[in-house]
Amino acid sequence: MGANVKDFLGWCRRHLILVTVMTLVAVAGFTYVNIQVLHMTSEPEFCHLCHPAKGFGALAEVDSWEHSGHAEAGVSCLDCHGRPGVVGYVKAKLGGLKDVYMQLTITPEEKIHILENPGADLVPSEQCMFCHTDEGNAAYRKKHKYTMQVVEMRMLDSVINPEFRMRKGLPDIMTDTFVGGTHFDHSFHIESFEMECNSCHFGLIHQVNTKSDRMNMCLTCHDENEGSSAPLLSECYTCHEAQVAMNTGLGAKGVAGEASLMYGNGITCEECHIGAEDGQYRPTSETCVNCHDSDYVEIFTDWASETKAQMKELKLIRSEVELLLKEADKRKRTTTEAWARYEKALYNFRLVRNDGTNGVHNNEYANAILDSVALDFREIQKGLNEAW
Ligand code: HEC
Ligand code: HEC
Ligand code: HEC
Ligand code: HEC
Ligand code: HEC
Ligand code: HEC
Ligand code: HEC
Ligand code: HEC
Repeated sequence: MGANVKDFLGWCRRHLILVTVMTLVAVAGFTYVNIQVLHMTSEPEFCHLCHPAKGFGALAEVDSWEHSGHAEAGVSCLDCHGRPGVVGYVKAKLGGLKDVYMQLTITPEEKIHILENPGADLVPSEQCMFCHTDEGNAAYRKKHKYTMQVVEMRMLDSVINPEFRMRKGLPDIMTDTFVGGTHFDHSFHIESFEMECNSCHFGLIHQVNTKSDRMNMCLTCHDENEGSSAPLLSECYTCHEAQVAMNTGLGAKGVAGEASLMYGNGITCEECHIGAEDGQYRPTSETCVNCHDSDYVEIFTDWASETKAQMKELKLIRSEVELLLKEADKRKRTTTEAWARYEKALYNFRLVRNDGTNGVHNNEYANAILDSVALDFREIQKGLNEAW
């Protein structure tokens, strides 16, 4: 042993407590740095380095995510692109290392080719079911008992249903038949025809697909019903539950309403949606001019832009309220009533959003609903702030 090392060890022995403390600090620091690195390399900003494009499709995965409902609700890349639990997290991280290696070794063309042809199993249905059903969540948790919730690195690790689902205002897609504004039985369709989530929700998040594409997908089977209960194209009322609710002024929790000016006067869905039989499902403001003079285009625009602005504001307040509620839970405050009110507000908010017309179907009712959502949010905030 060299003289220097001996001196050092001697010094250490004399300052045992100091050395122990320093070692502990170093280990903690190292662990902290590592966890920070793990966090940083899980953030969308990191993915953006190599997936930087704008819009939709290959290379634009971060931008397309940013504009999705999932991003709005705080669901991030590794919540879908990594399986639940610590093992799933580590595997996703190793996949990330492979990404970096590939970035350095393949050509840009090869990269685009890979991104344009994602494997059918890239995000398996099981992953979606983990958040969107109670049964799928329980089954996964049972199978991977020991890997859950050791550390919470992602939203995914804290998903326990039905609580998560309800607090996000989401239905259980395998047991509820009013989902996303549509009357639709997932379990019947998935089990009868062995469909995966992406059979219908193709290109969820990263691709541009119109709602017409999705409706056409239904019509591949629903163009005839052969005596079954499968609704045909003309049966708008059967599938479009949220739009019927909006037109009739019913459906929101705790908000009284009346039928829209048009619907209440006997105008049917088809009288405005005159192109539906020809596959032009979505009318524009021009449809108003069929019955009114051209000034009514302006009424359409006013209705839509006011509602849109109010919804945008409410989306921001929504995140604030959710954070406040979680914070209050951490401090062990009583939040049962506040959460229930929040869920009700979300339900009503989603009814307006799922109607998809920014209040054009029934402007007065849509406004009344959004006002009630704003009031609910304000009252929750007030209640939690007061008793602080
Ligand atoms: C250093 C550059 C780089 C970074 C950073 C990066 N990626 Fe990638 N990613 C790539 C490359 C290159 C490919 C194509 C080759 C491959 O499959 O690894 C790719 C492919 C993918 C794929 C498709 C894999 C497949 O099999 O089709 C997914 C999903 C993905 N990345 C997600 C992410 C996520 C999520 C992040 C952030 C946590 C991220 N990437 C960060 C370079 C990167
Ligand atoms: C709600 C789940 C979900 C979230 C959140 C999500 N993705 Fe995806 N991602 C998918 C699905 C499903 C696919 C399969 C292909 C498809 O449908 O586009 C996919 C495909 C991809 C691909 C393969 C290439 C492509 O364009 O299809 C990349 C790369 C990718 N995602 C990156 C990301 C990044 C980066 C983020 C975060 C900024 C992210 N994803 C967030 C579900 C998600
Ligand atoms: C970590 C949990 C989580 C995972 C995993 C997840 N989702 Fe979601 N999903 C959510 C939340 C939360 C919302 C609510 C968004 C909101 O409030 O607007 C949502 C919304 C949706 C919606 C409603 C429309 C929209 O885009 O906002 C659809 C459809 C959907 N998810 C399908 C899927 C599919 C298909 C997958 C698998 C590829 C998936 N989700 C994976 C949590 C998840
Ligand atoms: C046969 C087609 C089909 C299949 C397969 C399918 N869905 Fe759906 N899904 C729909 C339709 C239709 C809606 C309602 C309209 C919309 O939002 O697109 C919907 C709505 C949803 C919503 C929105 C709920 C809300 O309240 O906002 C979620 C979440 C969802 N589906 C998840 C899934 C998951 C997870 C799978 C796979 C297990 C799946 N879906 C498979 C057709 C399908
Ligand atoms: C693979 C063929 C197929 C596809 C694709 C399909 N359906 Fe169906 N659907 C059926 C059949 C068959 C029935 C009749 C079931 C019966 O009467 O037993 C049905 C029944 C229904 C019903 C009536 C049953 C109920 O729940 O009240 C609705 C509503 C419905 N489908 C909506 C949709 C929507 C929305 C889509 C597109 C997202 C869709 N279907 C896609 C085959 C399909
Ligand atoms: C079998 C069920 C079904 C029937 C019947 C049906 N639709 Fe749809 N329609 C859908 C689904 C599913 C979507 C996609 C919803 C989504 O993704 O949010 C859709 C989407 C639409 C859209 C949005 C199109 C776009 O690209 O923006 C319009 C408008 C529409 N339907 C009108 C009608 C009208 C009018 C009728 C009656 C003539 C009708 N639908 C009958 C299931 C149906
Ligand atoms: C006064 C005319 C009018 C009546 C009546 C009407 N609609 Fe619409 N509907 C519209 C217009 C206009 C749009 C497009 C709004 C936009 O783009 O902002 C639309 C959009 C839609 C959409 C697309 C929503 C989305 O998610 O993007 C659906 C679905 C729909 N209507 C169904 C119905 C059904 C079902 C009925 C009957 C209960 C009905 N509409 C009655 C004018 C009407
Ligand atoms: C199929 C014919 C028809 C279409 C299309 C139609 N309306 Fe109407 N509208 C009516 C009828 C009928 C009434 C009720 C009778 C009345 O009070 O004049 C009405 C009443 C109204 C009123 C209240 C009374 C008034 O005249 O100011 C407004 C505002 C209105 N419509 C706006 C619109 C807008 C905006 C659109 C396009 C989204 C539209 N309408 C599309 C037939 C239609």
